[in-house]
Amino acid sequence: MIPEAILGLRCCQCDWEGPAEPFSYICPTCGKNLDFIYDYDRIAASCGPLSLNQDNDASMWRYLPLLPVKAAPENKSLRVGGTPLVDFPHLAKKTRITRLQIKDDTRNPSGSLKDRASELAIQHARELGKKTIIAASTGNAGSSLAALSAYHGMNSIILAPATAPIAKLTQILQHGAQLVPVDANYDAAFDLAFEWAQKHESYCRNTGVNPILAEGKKTVALEIAEQNDWKAPDHIFVPVGDGCIISGVYKGFFDLLSLKWIDSMPAIHAVQAEGSAAIVDSLGQEGDIQPVSANTLADSISVDLPRDGDKARRAIIKSGGRGFKVKDADILKAQKRLSETTGIFAEPAAAAAYAGFLQASEAGVFKPEDHVVVLLTGSGLKDTASAQKLLKPVEEVNATLVDVETYLDKHQG
Ligand SMILES: Cc1ncc(COP(=O)(O)O)c(C=O)c1O
Ligand SMILES: [Zn+2]
Repeated sequence: MIPEAILGLRCCQCDWEGPAEPFSYICPTCGKNLDFIYDYDRIAASCGPLSLNQDNDASMWRYLPLLPVKAAPENKSLRVGGTPLVDFPHLAKKTRITRLQIKDDTRNPSGSLKDRASELAIQHARELGKKTIIAASTGNAGSSLAALSAYHGMNSIILAPATAPIAKLTQILQHGAQLVPVDANYDAAFDLAFEWAQKHESYCRNTGVNPILAEGKKTVALEIAEQNDWKAPDHIFVPVGDGCIISGVYKGFFDLLSLKWIDSMPAIHAVQAEGSAAIVDSLGQEGDIQPVSANTLADSISVDLPRDGDKARRAIIKSGGRGFKVKDADILKAQKRLSETTGIFAEPAAAAAYAGFLQASEAGVFKPEDHVVVLLTGSGLKDTASAQKLLKPVEEVNATLVDVETYLDKHQG
C-alpha cells in the first residue's frame, strides 16, 4: 500500500526505526512522535523542478511523489493548497528588509492551513480502509476535517472545547460532522479522541501523534520554495500551538534540501502567545517540555501541553530559528495593522506570526538584504469577536444625505 519512496518511520526521540506498514501513530519503544523517512534518490529519479513545471495541478497534490500515500484522491478540484504568496514591498521598506512575503493560507477551502493535513489524512485513512476519522480540535482542525470529509464522503467525529469560537463550531455542524463539544479544554479532548480511535479501530487525526499531519502541512513549505523559484527565504515566522505546523514547515524544507532542490534552510521562528508558550520557554532547556496553564485569546494556539513539542523544538534549533512570545494586546494590534495594510483578515493565532515578525524587526534580528516570509494560518472570519475588541462600536445613522455627510465629517478615517 505504502509508496516505494517511503523507507519507514523514525522516532524523533530514541533510535527506533521501523516499517511504515502496519502504520503506527507513535514510537512503539518510547511513545514519542514519528517522522516518515524517504528515499530521496528514488524521488529524484521520477520527479524534479522541471517535471513540476509542466504539472498544471495547482493543489498540494502536485507534490504527491513527496507524500506518504499511494495516490491522490479521485477528486481534488476543491483545491487544498496552491495558496498565494504575496509580496508587500511597502511593508518590507518600512521594516528595512529587502523582501516581505505573506503566505496566505487563510485561502484554503475551510479557511485554514489545517486543510493540508486533513486532505492527506482522509486519503491515508481511505488507503488503510478506515470509514471514520476522529479528531480533537481547538476549532480549525475540526472545521477542516468536517469540510473535507463532506467533500470526500468520509464520516468524521470532532471533539472540541465547547468554548471554541462559534464560527468554527458552526462550520463543523454545517458540514454534517458529528460534533462533541466537551466540557473541558483541548488537552482533555485530545486524550479522549485518541482513546476513542483505539477502542473503535478508527482513524485518529489528532495533531502531533499522527506523522501524516506534518507531511500534509509540509506542502506549505514546498509551495513557498517553488513560488520563489526553488529558493528558500532567509526567515519564516510560524504561529505555534501544538507545534505540528512548524514541524511540517521544517520537514518540507528538510526534504527539499535533501533533494538538493534548494540550497539553504530558512531560519524557522516560532511565535507563541505569552500565555501559552511551552515550546518557546523550553528552548535552551534539556528534557521534556513542561506544560503550562494556557491563557490567550488566540484560541488556536492555546495549548497546555504541546503534542508535537519535541519536533517543534528540533525544527527551531536545527533551522537556526528563535522563539518569540507575543502579548494578546500585540496580537490584536498586529491583526488590525495587517488587515489595514495588506487586505488580509487573519484570525488572532495567525496574526500572532505577524506580531512576532514585528517584534523581531524591532529587536534588529534582520539584515537589510533579508527575505522574510510570514505564514498566515487561519481566517479572521472564523473569530470576528476577537477583532471587534479593537473596533469602535458603530452608531446607527438616519438614512438622509445630510445625516450621512455629518456622520462622515465626524468620523473621518
Ligand atoms: C490558525 C492556526 N494557527 C496556528 C495553529 C498552531 O498550529 P500547531 O498546533 O500545529 O502548532 C493552529 C492550530 O490549531 C491554527 O488553527
Ligand atoms: Zn522512540
